[in-house]
Amino acid sequence: MILVTGGAGYIGSHLVMALLEKGQNVIVFDSLELGHIETIETLQKYGNLKFIKGNLRNLDEIRGVFMSNKDIEAVVHFAAYSQVAESVKNPQKYYYNNVYGTLNLLNAMLEFGVKKIVFSSTAATYGEPEYTPIDEKHPQNPINPYGNSKLMVEKIMDDYDRAYGLKSVRLRYFNVAGADSKARIGEWHEPETHLIPNVLKATPDKSFKMFGDDYNTPDGTCIRDYINVEDLAQAHVLALEYLKNGGETNFFNLGTKNGNSVKEVFSVCEDVKGCEIPLEICPRREGDPAILVADNTKAKKTLDWEPKNDLRYSVETAYHYEFKNKG
Ligand SMILES: NC(=O)c1ccc[n+]([C@@H]2O[C@H](COP(=O)([O-])OP(=O)(O)OC[C@H]3O[C@@H](n4cnc5c(N)ncnc54)[C@H](O)[C@@H]3O)[C@@H](O)[C@H]2O)c1
Repeated sequence: MILVTGGAGYIGSHLVMALLEKGQNVIVFDSLELGHIETIETLQKYGNLKFIKGNLRNLDEIRGVFMSNKDIEAVVHFAAYSQVAESVKNPQKYYYNNVYGTLNLLNAMLEFGVKKIVFSSTAATYGEPEYTPIDEKHPQNPINPYGNSKLMVEKIMDDYDRAYGLKSVRLRYFNVAGADSKARIGEWHEPETHLIPNVLKATPDKSFKMFGDDYNTPDGTCIRDYINVEDLAQAHVLALEYLKNGGETNFFNLGTKNGNSVKEVFSVCEDVKGCEIPLEICPRREGDPAILVADNTKAKKTLDWEPKNDLRYSVETAYHYEFKNKG
């Protein structure tokens, strides 16, 4: 049995789908603060999924999950808040949820002897890039409370390995994109802060806002590494296997090693949608580096992972999901 925290959310639900399709039994623990019961109901059609509504900030609720499910072998931990701007305004909310919530989870795991965890970390732990593409040796100097909260958890996990033998794999995602290939589940954030769904959703009344076209990049817009959500889910499946086979605590970048500019993404979205998308060029936002691209060599070598889907596929699946579910 695999316990997935945050499995009612965007990325977690895609891992749950991948696990269920492999015949794996899964428990999702989610507060539904940001996730959706409809996502759980969809997932339950595809395999043996138990859903437990609960909050990691409540130690008893997460202890209860381990107490009544003695067959949990490993945990995949997605549950967190992840909006950078909100974390700057309200760091308390972020440290309380992302750090304290994780401490409750880890302490419950130790109490019940579960010692394998895969953790959703982020490129935001690196901060302002010193070189590109970013490999795992790049210094970790986050520039906002969200990134700090994730780095703190990474450090706690190292200490818990040294002291208690808890083995972790920390997966540092770059920009996650796309939806399930059959449009059963997809990206559903409220509010939505990510590029592709926002471009696809733009209307003449609410044009897409492009922040900054004067960066030091070939077309002046920021370059990011868009990793497809199903490729990302597959990396989690491999990370679980790695831990099951006795792998040591480790950390990996998950990206494609290819950068795409905001203008490139915008033009792929127009192409997929088959129409012009209303656009407004706005000033730069604070804290957006010009280029963020992952060196993914380590994940390829150690986990035998290979991202298969390109940007266009992510945009197509995101569009199909939007179109199918929201008309
Ligand atoms: N989306 C990205 O591009 C991206 C990039 C880097 C890292 N990440 C990380 O990946 C993880 C998943 O991101 P997502 O985009 O799927 O987010 P999401 O908001 O869609 O999903 C997070 C889920 O966690 C649940 N949750 C939050 N706090 C909880 C708590 N205290 N107890 C129980 N459940 C709780 C929410 O209800 C939600 O269902 C996060 O940890 C995020 O920081 C995401």
